[in-house]
Amino acid sequence: MAAALQTNIRTVKVPATFRAVSKQSLAPFRVRCAVASPGKKRYTITLLPGDGIGPEVVSIAKNVLQQAGSLEGVEFNFHEMPIGGAALDLVGVPLPEETISAAKESDAVLLGAIGGYKWDNNEKHLRPEKGLLQIRAALKVFANLRPATVLPQLVDASTLKREVAEGVDLMVVRELTGGIYFGEPRGIKTNENGEEVGFNTEVYAAHEIDRIARVAFETARKRRGKLCSVDKANVLEASILWRKRVTALASEYPDVELSHMYVDNAAMQLVRDPKQFDTIVTNNIFGDILSDEASMITGSIGMLPSASLSDSGPGLFEPIHGSAPDIAGQDKANPLATILSAAMLLKYGLGEEKAAKRIEDAVLVALNNGFRTGDIYSAGTKLVGCKEMGEEVLKSVDSQVPASV
Ligand code: IPM
Ligand code: MG
Repeated sequence: MAAALQTNIRTVKVPATFRAVSKQSLAPFRVRCAVASPGKKRYTITLLPGDGIGPEVVSIAKNVLQQAGSLEGVEFNFHEMPIGGAALDLVGVPLPEETISAAKESDAVLLGAIGGYKWDNNEKHLRPEKGLLQIRAALKVFANLRPATVLPQLVDASTLKREVAEGVDLMVVRELTGGIYFGEPRGIKTNENGEEVGFNTEVYAAHEIDRIARVAFETARKRRGKLCSVDKANVLEASILWRKRVTALASEYPDVELSHMYVDNAAMQLVRDPKQFDTIVTNNIFGDILSDEASMITGSIGMLPSASLSDSGPGLFEPIHGSAPDIAGQDKANPLATILSAAMLLKYGLGEEKAAKRIEDAVLVALNNGFRTGDIYSAGTKLVGCKEMGEEVLKSVDSQVPASV
């Protein structure tokens, strides 16, 4: 299983392409190959815009995806499905069966954001967040890659001093389908004193630790060869097992330098000296917290994409920011995290590295040209809204010389 995931990450192009092709009639594909004209590849993408700023940023990312794909001979069928509060309003549940089936049948899933004030007082099983957790579980996307890179153009948007933030380039590998988020028993009950008690369970089986650790070792190997495993092994049994399993696997990756750090120290080190980190691997809840912290080093949570991968089947790609209901519908959101998630979709989900690179480059060009949404604005740059930022990225995708020619 773990080996299959490594294949998925390293050489995902083959299976993903095959999946897409096998959905079409093979005959026309072969004919196109036979005449040696570049065959158009077609992928099915499920779009889950969700709530708040989700629809705004997803519609922009969709256009960018389409444009970058078309320049590389890649076409998409998009299916938009409801999730979160939008689904609650429509059908009364945060993740309808139809959305799960569409997601499972597609080649990749692009999600915006979920949640909003309107549903904040809903019962737990009817909260929008439940839909997000359910889709992660349904797609079995246990490996969540959250890169945090300080772009030279945005150093001054960081809340950290320039010399601390400059050059930061780290990757948080977060376990996504286990731990306290899903552990049983959980609940709120009344104890013998008549007092309400809330409880959750942090639980990890060895195989869950091994498979995420392997993804992290593989990721570190392709980066700068340093892996820091973050846990709370001085207090928690689940962390003691975590540390033991990660340590045991290290012998299979002699080229990767492994270290361990307690999560409280890691939270401190991330703001003290973030450049010491290359790849971080950690459990579901520590990864949730540390990736938000890491995002601020880069200037804005509005910049950070993520990829959630399983050992087979479609990946789920989403910005790490939330639905930002306070600015929803006002054309103020930063679409770059979702656009960069679309690039991760192409790279990790479909193996379409050239199209992914086009998007990454286009984002840099838009930033180089001085365009900034409010969250990353600094004096001397051009303040734009969500749409205009999207248009600038699209223009930059368009103006690139096709890399495949
Ligand atoms: C994230 C979010 C989610 C999480 C919430 C919305 C359930 O914070 O993707 O980081 O905790 O995983
Ligand atoms: Mg979070």
